[in-house]
Amino acid sequence: MTMARLNDKVALVTGAAGGIGSAVARAFVGQGARVHLVDLQEEPLVALANSLGALASYSLADVSDENATRTYIADALSREARIDIAFLNAGIVGAVSRIEETPNEVFDRVMRVNVRGVWLGLAGVLPMMRAQGGGSIVVTSSIAGTRGTAGQGAYVASKHAVLGLMKTAALEGAPHRIRVNAICPAPIDTEMMQALAAGIDPGDHEAGKRKVLSAIPLGRYGTADEVAKLVMFLSGDDSSYCTGAAYMIDGGGTAGPVR
Ligand SMILES: NC(=O)c1ccc[n+]([C@@H]2O[C@H](COP(=O)([O-])OP(=O)(O)OC[C@H]3O[C@@H](n4cnc5c(N)ncnc54)[C@H](O)[C@@H]3O)[C@@H](O)[C@H]2O)c1
Repeated sequence: MTMARLNDKVALVTGAAGGIGSAVARAFVGQGARVHLVDLQEEPLVALANSLGALASYSLADVSDENATRTYIADALSREARIDIAFLNAGIVGAVSRIEETPNEVFDRVMRVNVRGVWLGLAGVLPMMRAQGGGSIVVTSSIAGTRGTAGQGAYVASKHAVLGLMKTAALEGAPHRIRVNAICPAPIDTEMMQALAAGIDPGDHEAGKRKVLSAIPLGRYGTADEVAKLVMFLSGDDSSYCTGAAYMIDGGGTAGPVR
């Protein structure tokens, strides 16, 4: 039986309709938390909320939009009057192409969702957590937040920026008992990873996947449920001395080259 470690906590999840977001939302509910789900994609968002039942509510919102952010936070508060945990996770991968071949609009869009989305989420959630007397925020960076990757310039820049925001928010939040941490996953078996593998080798998805896995010591994709376990740890009191840090969950990908 799952222990109800997060009983009575209220958790916000962005990118909730996606692979990692939905696994995390399920895990929160499994631990007794109530969740407010945010995503752009209506159908999977509503389906997830329905499957989670009375413990879930949702907002259809673009996290990169200021008014939409205000609305999703107000929606979450109107139901629960507090947000104890925020998992700011919505993100897009953009295109797989060299810097000079990537349209500037792709760079702008990736930065807008991945960086501005987290920026707006932090700006919305931090003041309320301060007023409440504390909270825990987890943002989703990536292995791409810790090193370069050829063909993913915009995404790499955006995920590095997410770590800078996380560290700054941790410093500003610490005196108010707000902890802020980041997860750095890769490669996790979600739609994003399938799109990425397809982008690496457009003619042959399996070849793209083999290329990705050749750099991963554990030799397989991780699952969204494995990521959810790390997010549960960072969200709750088990990680009470952890703040301002980036947690790898990457099958050993950053440890060194595979021989
Ligand atoms: N899958 C991986 O290997 C991997 C690795 C490292 C980091 N990540 C990161 O994990 C996070 C979740 O990705 P995932 O793998 O679950 O991918 P996914 O594509 O399954 O989920 C992403 C979700 O974010 C939503 N979204 C996108 N733009 C949005 C916006 N502007 N407003 C609201 N919602 C928006 C999408 O609709 C989607 O449901 C992303 O930040 C991604 O960069 C994923």
